Amino acid sequence: MSVSCDMLVFGGTGDLTLHKLIPALYHLHREERLHPDVRIIALARRELDREAYLATAEHHCKAQVAHSDFRPEIWQSFAKRLDYFSMDASQRDDFVRLAHYLGYAEGRVRVYYLATAPNLFEMIALNLEATGLAGQQTRIVLEKPIGHSLESALDINLKIGRVFAESRIYRIDHYLGKETVQNLMALRFANALFEPIWRAGHVDHVQITVAETLGVESRGGYYDKAGAMRDMLQNHLLQLLCLVAMEAPVHFDADSVHNEKVKVLKSLKPIVGQEVLDKTVRGQYIGGAVGEQGVPAYRFEPNVDSDSDTETFVAVQAELDSWRWAGVPFYLCTGKRMARKCSEIVISFRQVPHMLFGSNSQVNRLVIRLQPEEGVSLQLMAKSPGKGMVLEPVELDLNLANVFQQRRRWDAYERLLLDVIEGDSTLFMRHDEVEAAWRWVDLILAGWQSYYRKPSLYPAGTNGPEQARQLLAGEGRRWTV
Ligand code: BG6
Repeated sequence: MSVSCDMLVFGGTGDLTLHKLIPALYHLHREERLHPDVRIIALARRELDREAYLATAEHHCKAQVAHSDFRPEIWQSFAKRLDYFSMDASQRDDFVRLAHYLGYAEGRVRVYYLATAPNLFEMIALNLEATGLAGQQTRIVLEKPIGHSLESALDINLKIGRVFAESRIYRIDHYLGKETVQNLMALRFANALFEPIWRAGHVDHVQITVAETLGVESRGGYYDKAGAMRDMLQNHLLQLLCLVAMEAPVHFDADSVHNEKVKVLKSLKPIVGQEVLDKTVRGQYIGGAVGEQGVPAYRFEPNVDSDSDTETFVAVQAELDSWRWAGVPFYLCTGKRMARKCSEIVISFRQVPHMLFGSNSQVNRLVIRLQPEEGVSLQLMAKSPGKGMVLEPVELDLNLANVFQQRRRWDAYERLLLDVIEGDSTLFMRHDEVEAAWRWVDLILAGWQSYYRKPSLYPAGTNGPEQARQLLAGEGRRWTV
């Protein structure tokens, strides 16, 4: 049973809260992972009474969780924990009201989850401090993106750091809460098999792909200023890269893990100036069809500039200046409105040194699938049955959902919310990780400005622009997704 606490969610009527946080907390309640005293308070400007908020929250929760997991009687008992407090985060008086509402409970953990735009982070932190709400037992959770550049991230880290000690700041990247992402660490550091070959010399290249079929939904206003680089690559893909490339931490605790991830980010070879033309691809979707359904071009999405040149697809050839990975390309790729939803990490090993059975031997690949299904597969060459030595690629396939059949797969936010309540920040980002990631990304963004090219267009429902294929084809490689 976890710790007793108050969980206060700023942005309580927003998509993230209603679609992810409330359903995750509902599941934790349902599985009796929350201490009976845990209270959840949604905070937002809208004037709503508790009943109206509960009705909205229930409606969204029902829509988000699997049909068989939603039970009205469990919702009723969960709803007892849930309250709504209407306030304006820019008004100090409202924080004074909040303090009265919360009352004083010595030693009680308080978690502030900022599911808001980053430009509100500082104001909320200062108002919490000024009204005595930022004491030692409090923690603050910041949703990505942390800023939109190195400068803004440094500013946020500095200002939040003046109110909350680093150990009380939880910068969330929900990819780190995904089961298979954590399994990547288990795969690497709990099995002796891979370590000797997990390096240049054995690995030819690595691909990290997060392809989505979704467009920008209702988030056009935010996305048009961010683009795929800031929205996905700066955080989710670089975090995955860290877990693939990092050295084994000394202990499985927050600082040891963060130290190793920072080393990886600092070893990313800068892509400077004109290099962006050879090592990166920007794309934007035009109208097309995803599955059977016709979808409009990005520029016709709500709240998107009709002249926008924001990228909805990005591919980058990254390299690490490190002993282990020198010369091994890491191809990172993410896009919206792609042909199918698929997130995976593929480690492609080198070809055998001598082709004993002719030239049709394919390289071995280790594929770590994050979604839609979670699994790990190893592609090997085998002899096909019958006469002669005809080889065929085969797969050793581990479907994690089948292996752990009887257990429900946790959503990333369930795991991460529980970690915050319990005070474990291993699966969060330390300030220097975020900054090192921005330092590298900012150079690419600057290169894009100096050597401006319009994004390459790709029809919705395809695998991105032709230039992405060429990025690998030039090196005699191809995307596996
Ligand atoms: C979010 C991005 O962080 O991750 C979204 O802001 C994206 O644009 C989402 O759609 C993808 O998350 P998941 O878990 O569905 O792969």
